[in-house]
Amino acid sequence: MDAYNAPMKNHAHDSIRAIIWQDHHLRLLDQRWLPQETRYLDLHTAKDTAAAIRDMAVRGAPAIGVTAAYAVVLAARQAYARYRENWLAHMQEDVETLAQARPTAVNLFWAIDVMREHCAAIPKGQDPEALLLEAATRIHEEDIAANRRMGELGAALIQGGRDVLTHCNTGSLATGGYGTALGVIRSAYAAGHIQTVFADETRPWLQGARLTAWELVQDEIPVCLLCEGAAASLMREGRVSWAIVGADRIAANGDAANKIGTYSLAVAARHHGVKFMVVAPTTTIDMQAADGDAIPIEQRSADEVLELGGQRVAARGAQAWNPSFDVTPASLIDAIVTEKGVVTEPTREKMQNLMKS
Ligand code: MRU
Repeated sequence: MDAYNAPMKNHAHDSIRAIIWQDHHLRLLDQRWLPQETRYLDLHTAKDTAAAIRDMAVRGAPAIGVTAAYAVVLAARQAYARYRENWLAHMQEDVETLAQARPTAVNLFWAIDVMREHCAAIPKGQDPEALLLEAATRIHEEDIAANRRMGELGAALIQGGRDVLTHCNTGSLATGGYGTALGVIRSAYAAGHIQTVFADETRPWLQGARLTAWELVQDEIPVCLLCEGAAASLMREGRVSWAIVGADRIAANGDAANKIGTYSLAVAARHHGVKFMVVAPTTTIDMQAADGDAIPIEQRSADEVLELGGQRVAARGAQAWNPSFDVTPASLIDAIVTEKGVVTEPTREKMQNLMKS
């Protein structure tokens, strides 16, 4: 396969694809430069791809998983070129590096496990590239299909043309394409169920201001930014009916880890009678994590809080606490929307039934 253009990108309100397999390598839209510049990273090795994940050129749980799947193709190709028969053993170090890129999004580990199984099934001595590329492409396509299904299911929950609030970036940039929470928003907007999207700016990486606003402007969906500290006031004024977010990992009891600030949004939503929806494919559900306490939370550099755009903004001498994610307890979630169905008021038993279905 020479060029891979993910399907379904011509639907209305769905014009962006950030992960592309092209001319035998991986091409990523480098999200660190958006919205000021559209730059691409051309990646030929798994190690460089791991660095792109770690350094946030690509981010968002499903996007990290899809990217890792393609990175396994690169690792296998490099190992096969050098070691032939023993490519499988020689790619393990690269796969380990990939697995260490970021700790919270379970999609990374899910995708690596799936790709490992495909590697193990390839007959000894056979060139692995074509089979592995097919597997990675399938992961990519299935993620987009899951997002479109979640879009339909989530949009059906939103009635009546009221506005919604979202946090971080959960759109085409954060997934194989279309988006999770932003996919629901795209579908709900297309169906006339919402008019304006309120988006938290999302400190410290500003995924809301830089990425969600960019995506929605590209796709001509009205977007209004706010500092996340303003979210409770927005709810108090009765301006939004739903808060809709994604997840990096959902535990077996329905507790959901997502971008820092999601938990306070859920607390405020419950206080103000605003419904709270988590949208994530089943590849984001980790049944091995009994509850939210078992989810590893990435701690990032204090500089991300002390600085803005590389410029120091905090008083010299101040320290900073910078957890990248928090956990929203299942009791604050009204609906978890997956491609397999919707779980309302999630419990351990309901999550088990969903995963068995
Ligand atoms: O640190 P990031 O930008 O990778 O965090 C992303 C999020 O928290 C998203 O909400 C989550 O991955 C869901 S993306 C569909």
